[in-house]
Amino acid sequence: MEKVIRQYQNTLAKFKEQKAEIHRLWNIDEESAQLLFMLVLIRQAKYIVEIGTSNGYSTFWLASAALRTQGKVHTIEVDDSRYELAKQNLVELPNIIQYHARAEDILASFETGIDFLFIDAGKPGYIDYLRSLEDKLAPHAVVVADNICSHPETTGTYRNYIESSPAYISMVHDINAGLQIAYYQG
Ligand SMILES: C[S@@+](CC[C@H](N)C(=O)[O-])C[C@H]1O[C@@H](n2cnc3c(N)ncnc32)[C@H](O)[C@@H]1O
Repeated sequence: MEKVIRQYQNTLAKFKEQKAEIHRLWNIDEESAQLLFMLVLIRQAKYIVEIGTSNGYSTFWLASAALRTQGKVHTIEVDDSRYELAKQNLVELPNIIQYHARAEDILASFETGIDFLFIDAGKPGYIDYLRSLEDKLAPHAVVVADNICSHPETTGTYRNYIESSPAYISMVHDINAGLQIAYYQG
């Protein structure tokens, strides 16, 4: 990971500055970001969907990994200023498609074969995001969701669904706001 951090040190420094200067970016922490990077590599994910771009910090890590898997990241953000900021931050990465929309309005138009899904947007929507995309998940897809421990009142339905469904094997990692990692058996 040190090699990767060195390679992207300028971009990572920029993200660090933005996090310090701008409120309401809600970026995942460094450990979670690096874990996403490793999961994309290990899964050799090619069709990656992220719900909740913010300024593009997690998108950056997903797409950097996807450069090594010939993959592409489709990322959705509803907020105007965070969408624009992400556009600037991610300009050097050719494998990102940004959507400026409410996730619930566009998920139905996504194609099948998603092999990596990262959910990090409006908490009450988690279960609906998943339901909209579930029949588009590829076998052996990885589904990661943040804020599982920090917002149990809203993400609880999602967590219960994943944990009780025979289609998934999952764990909650006690980092950031509680990161759930699920393996979709298909
Ligand atoms: C926790 S932040 C995402 C942080 C980002 N994943 C990162 O780690 O850098 C959540 C983002 O989701 C966006 N969001 C909330 N509800 C949304 C929705 N229904 N559709 C699309 N984006 C949404 C918010 O505007 C916010 O920027």
